[in-house]
Amino acid sequence: MTATPILFDCDPGHDDAIALVMAHRSPAIDLLGVTTTCGNAEIEKTTANCLRILEFIGAQDVPVARGCHRPLARPLVLGTADGPSGLEGSPYLPPAQGKVVSQHAVDFLAGKLAAQREPIDVVATGPLCNIGLLVLKHPQVLPKIKELTWMGGVFYRKSEIITPTEFNAFCDPEALKIVLDSGIPITMVGLDVTMQVLVEAPQFAEFERIGTPLGKVVLDWLKFYEKLHRNSMGIGGAMHDPLALAAVIDPTLIRTRPVHIGVNLAGSYCFGATVADFWNERGERPNAKIACDVDSDRFFDLLYSLLRD
Ligand code: RIB
Ligand code: CA
Repeated sequence: MTATPILFDCDPGHDDAIALVMAHRSPAIDLLGVTTTCGNAEIEKTTANCLRILEFIGAQDVPVARGCHRPLARPLVLGTADGPSGLEGSPYLPPAQGKVVSQHAVDFLAGKLAAQREPIDVVATGPLCNIGLLVLKHPQVLPKIKELTWMGGVFYRKSEIITPTEFNAFCDPEALKIVLDSGIPITMVGLDVTMQVLVEAPQFAEFERIGTPLGKVVLDWLKFYEKLHRNSMGIGGAMHDPLALAAVIDPTLIRTRPVHIGVNLAGSYCFGATVADFWNERGERPNAKIACDVDSDRFFDLLYSLLRD
């Protein structure tokens, strides 16, 4: 199997951390570099978390570049799911020894993309601050993005446990609009599918059985993460970012459909809403593919397999 080279932009974050583990462990992925953004915590914390996660899992050689400390056009509103450090529940993860590269994440991404002979995959699992700024500052490298697979948005399965806006879109909606207007091919893995991939008792039992050091740290992250979901929504921990990464490893895990996505930038309660024109009433060409269905069992089988050996 030839590994798919990817660049990974994230805001670790428990679920980002699990996605990083999957990217490093999967023989189908060649992790060229990781860039960090604000979102689940301030940039200093998401960057420190990223470095210590990669070191803990043996991926210390993967270069990390620090990115935007705030959204492009509005103040930073932090996510609340990961605790003050952005990675509560794994106190034994030692502080990072390594350092980030000297370049800003946006320039690091541009340099890596420019160096590619063929377009490559970019995976983003946080607010799109860095990717939006890449579009503005380095438009010449955009043709080197084969597909941007982004955990973000919510399109139609709104319910009592799914809010009208998803955090990564809500945190920096202007960046999302810039990316959608740029023409970069984007697959949006939104809450419609990630809220179907929940860690409940059967999954916890399987994680307990894995028993490897990686399995244990993922289990510890999940224990913290699930407790928050249970307390706030009465459900298990949703595997948001791991599913986005898994969709690059195995695109058959999700079913997608092309649709025009508009981003709400105004108002008090719905800015950041991702509004899908399912019936093409706006008459605008589709600017994204959105994930509509997911095979949750096969997702978990993939995750377990990456933690076992
Ligand atoms: O809405 C879920 C997203 O917000 C995930 O990427 C999670 O890490 C948080 O960033
Ligand atoms: Ca995230």
